[in-house]
Amino acid sequence: MTTSKIVPACLSGSALAQGQRKFVRVDGKDIVIFNVNGEVYAIDDSCPHSGASLFSGSLHGYYLTCPAHGLSFDIRTGCMRKGTGFNVRTYRCKLADDSIEIDQ
Ligand code: FES
Repeated sequence: MTTSKIVPACLSGSALAQGQRKFVRVDGKDIVIFNVNGEVYAIDDSCPHSGASLFSGSLHGYYLTCPAHGLSFDIRTGCMRKGTGFNVRTYRCKLADDSIEIDQ
């Protein structure tokens, strides 16, 4: 079952400009939200390889490179850029004027 969670107002949609990212904790889950070209994407802040934080990874287009060992993930799907074996969890999310909704 999918439920929607509203991220607190301090992390409102208007505070997440294009090209920016935000770290949020929702129900004990560490999540990174990206605004790429006006669309928002949310992923776990834990790399599926060995658990490193993905927040500071470099983003090229939709591909986020883990700062620990360099695996790259598509933030739209969570799939690895090359090969298979690890997928980062993604969350459906929606940008609104005063909130960001994340489906858990
Ligand atoms: S922990 Fe991310 S690539 Fe190893």
